[in-house]
Amino acid sequence: MVDNGTHLIDLADLSRDEVTALVDLAARLRSHPEPAALAGKVLGLVFFNPSLRTLASTQAGMAKLGGSSFVITPGAGTWQLESRLGVRMDGACAEHVREGLPVLASFCDALGIRAFAAGKDLAADLADTEFRAMAAVVPGPLINLESAIAHPMQGLADWRTLDDLGVPRHSRFVLSWVNHPRALPLAVPATTVHMAALRGHEVVVLRPDGYALPPEVMQRARDAAAIGGGSVTETTDRAAALRGASIVYAKEWGSPLHYGDATAEAALRAPLAEWQVDESWFAGSAADCRFMHCLPVRRNVAVADAVLDGGRSVVLTEANNRLWTQMAVLYRLLRG
Ligand code: CP
Repeated sequence: MVDNGTHLIDLADLSRDEVTALVDLAARLRSHPEPAALAGKVLGLVFFNPSLRTLASTQAGMAKLGGSSFVITPGAGTWQLESRLGVRMDGACAEHVREGLPVLASFCDALGIRAFAAGKDLAADLADTEFRAMAAVVPGPLINLESAIAHPMQGLADWRTLDDLGVPRHSRFVLSWVNHPRALPLAVPATTVHMAALRGHEVVVLRPDGYALPPEVMQRARDAAAIGGGSVTETTDRAAALRGASIVYAKEWGSPLHYGDATAEAALRAPLAEWQVDESWFAGSAADCRFMHCLPVRRNVAVADAVLDGGRSVVLTEANNRLWTQMAVLYRLLRG
C-alpha cells in the first residue's frame, strides 16, 4: 500500500486509484458484510491522545470483520511512553516507544497509533517527524489514527461521504477556518484540502489573515488537484468563497504564524469570534449545499446549533463512515 507495503500514514502516500478502491471497498463491506474476513486477527491500538470516533469505530470495525483488538492508553494503566529521540529518560516516562511499540506489534497483526502534534516546531510537525520515527520501529502493518499533520482515516470517511451524497467532483468545496478556544493541530485541514483536491473539487480555503495553511500543505494539495482535475485557491473573502459552494467544511486550526506560542496565537484569534458558521453563511451557496465537520465540534463557538441541527449537516454521516472506511483499510492491510 505505502511505506514498506504495510504502513498507511498519509492519504498523500496513496495514489488516487488506491484511495477510490478503499472508498469503494468501504461501500461493499457496508452492503455485503464479511463477518469472518479477519477471524483470528488482532489489532493493537495505541492512543497517546483522546478520541471518541476513532477509538470506537476502529474497534467496532475490527469486530465486524471477525477480529479482535486491544487498546493501550500510555500512562493510564500502562507505562507512560517516551516518543522523543535522544532524551534522558529521568522523568515520568518509564519506557521508550522504540521498545514499547515493537513489543506491542509482536502481539498483534496490525497496530493503529494516534499521536497528535507536539505543537512546538512547525517544520518537525509538517514532516511528521515523531510519528514517522515511531513507524520506523513498527515492523508490520500500521495505521495512522491521527498524527501531527495527517488524519488519513478522516479523509477516507469524508470522501466516502461525498460519494454517498452524490456531490459532483468538480463542484466548489470550501474548507473554512472556524473559531475555537485554543489552537488546534493542522492534521485535519491538511488532510481535507488534499482529499478534496484529489477528488477533483474546486477547493477554496477560506480563512482570516494569519491563518493561511503552510505553503507545504497548499503545494501538496495543488499537486493533488493536478491529478484529480480540480483546483486549490485561498481567500479571506467569505462571500466570494461561499458563492455557489456545494460543501462548507468547517475546521479549527492554530495560526502557523504563531506556532507554539499560545499567547500570541490567542491574541490573534481574540477578535475572530464571528468566524462561527451560521445559516447566513449559506445565503449565496448552492441550494443543496451541505455542511461538514470531522467532530468533535464546539456548538455556538465553531458552528451554530441551527446548522448542526439543520438539514444541511452531514456530520453524523461522516462519523458513521469512519467505521466502513476503517474496515476497508483493515481488510486491505490484513487480507491484501
Ligand atoms: N474525527 C475524529 O477523529 O474524532 P475523534 O477525535 O473523536 O476520534
